[in-house]
Amino acid sequence: MLKELILKNRSCRGYAQTPRPTEEELKELADCARLCPSASNRQPLRCRLVNDQAECVALQAATRWGGALRELHLPYPGTEATAFLVLCYDSASAKDSPMLRIDTGIAAQTVLLRATEMGYSGLMIAAFEPDGVKRALTLPEGFEPVLVIALGKGAETIVLEDRADGEERAYWRDEKGVHHVPKVPLEKFIIR
Ligand SMILES: Cc1cc2nc3c(=O)[nH]c(=O)nc-3n(C[C@H](O)[C@H](O)[C@H](O)COP(=O)(O)O)c2cc1C
Repeated sequence: MLKELILKNRSCRGYAQTPRPTEEELKELADCARLCPSASNRQPLRCRLVNDQAECVALQAATRWGGALRELHLPYPGTEATAFLVLCYDSASAKDSPMLRIDTGIAAQTVLLRATEMGYSGLMIAAFEPDGVKRALTLPEGFEPVLVIALGKGAETIVLEDRADGEERAYWRDEKGVHHVPKVPLEKFIIR
């Protein structure tokens, strides 16, 4: 059921180091991104697959995880992502624009739902240093990263909860390390 995948697909910031997504599995995820809707069918996005270990280490270092829990320095050592997909555009033929960003969100969520179906977890990462990502991956000339997607076998317990009135919307962790994600309650989400 799609709703089950939507519920299960939570932003994950800690991964088992095996099994690692294979090249074939990453290609399948890229194919899902390729098939997504695109404003005016411009299809500005391109996808860089990353599962080489050295590239994963370099890319991990160029990304920032869990800004609301900065003191935890996530991911914990030994729980880094074991693969990434990096959504990019070619600046020679496309411009950064609101539509490109909307295309990016649709593609990213689609990738993550398919990854969840395959038994993996993931994390969208907008907090990255573009130059660091370009250096880590030696992207072809002119390609700009828009969103990094971390992937791997999730090793975290994550729970969704309805956000109480006036409550912080930031995610938080309890003393057992369970990650809590407050969401706006449905009756507040729907406006009349
Ligand atoms: C566009 C976008 C960018 C994000 N960038 C980051 C990021 O740079 N680092 C990070 O740790 N989480 C990032 N996240 C994950 C959010 O923090 C996460 O979606 C939010 O806490 C809700 O958790 P959930 O995805 O499990 O519902 C991003 C999410 C989105 C949609």
